[in-house]
Amino acid sequence: GQPLRLGVAGLGTVGAGLALLLRDNADLITARAGRPIVITAVAARDRTRDRGVDLGSCRWYDDAAGLATDPDVDVVVELIGGAEGKARELVEAALANSKPVVTANKALVAVHGEALGLLSEKQSTPLLYEAAVAGGIPAIKTVREGLAADRLLRIGGILNGTCNYILTAMRETGRDFADVLAEAQALGYAEADPSTDVDGVDAAHKLAILASLAFGRPVQFDSVHVEGIRQIGALDLSAAKALGYRIKLLGLARQAERGIEARVSPCLVPHTSPIAQVDGVFNAVIAEGAFVGRLMVEGRGAGAGPTASAVAADLIDLARGKPAPVWGVSAAELEPVRSRPISER
Ligand code: HSE
Repeated sequence: GQPLRLGVAGLGTVGAGLALLLRDNADLITARAGRPIVITAVAARDRTRDRGVDLGSCRWYDDAAGLATDPDVDVVVELIGGAEGKARELVEAALANSKPVVTANKALVAVHGEALGLLSEKQSTPLLYEAAVAGGIPAIKTVREGLAADRLLRIGGILNGTCNYILTAMRETGRDFADVLAEAQALGYAEADPSTDVDGVDAAHKLAILASLAFGRPVQFDSVHVEGIRQIGALDLSAAKALGYRIKLLGLARQAERGIEARVSPCLVPHTSPIAQVDGVFNAVIAEGAFVGRLMVEGRGAGAGPTASAVAADLIDLARGKPAPVWGVSAAELEPVRSRPISER
């Protein structure tokens, strides 16, 4: 078939990983997508940096906005990040031009997902975001497709690889926070501004997305109670250990009588529990449904390879046709019930 031609905005860790994956797995991706998936245009600040893959034949843009109107771009892949600015403008412009969008941008989907879902539906143009939640774990597909038939009571898990990496290394080696954070940054796990990770904001973005999907109603990002891991010290980790616990940054949302409760906070978990065994950059998504019962899916939550794998899976869905609606149901059917900050309850 005709190749699916990508315009990739942002060639950082994930963008470079995507280019490598599309190159190395070209045969199987073509077979599964029914046609080749190729990068035809890119937008990135630095043209000269060695990204380990040849992008010399691509059209280059300094301004990502050009991708939204390029007639040789079938799909815009947004890997810029951030809820506002360039990323938001690009995604809105692409959808307005009826160009499907694949994004890894959890901040954008968490903050503007409801409006983007409506725009996607109005334009009959897909917006896919598997890579926005839990890196390589197919978290969105698990909830939206795998658990589509069940009424979910709880959703959440370990949703930030950087924090889990830091807590694990501090516990195992006694190294200090700043030292381990620098390592997570060097490995490409942390956000551009790592306070987004360590203050729990990134996990809260992902939780808001998962909860919106799980409960079929828009869970506002600013209604999620957020605590990070900055205040956790060596003493907390060793005290937890002595008591038979581990400290994990968990995001958990549940249907309560008076609405949806969603919170991100450091939690003590019994060291023998499955979630306590999820260490390093690994994430875990846990869900509980009336029929399915409890389940947990574990995998790498950050980094080039895992995140690129999730982006490419969305591209294969697009290439084959009939991808899922943004929130699993028609946007008009999202129940207009708002959750409230936990502090107001
Ligand atoms: N900074 C994020 C994390 C990247 O550490 O989990 C994946 O979204």
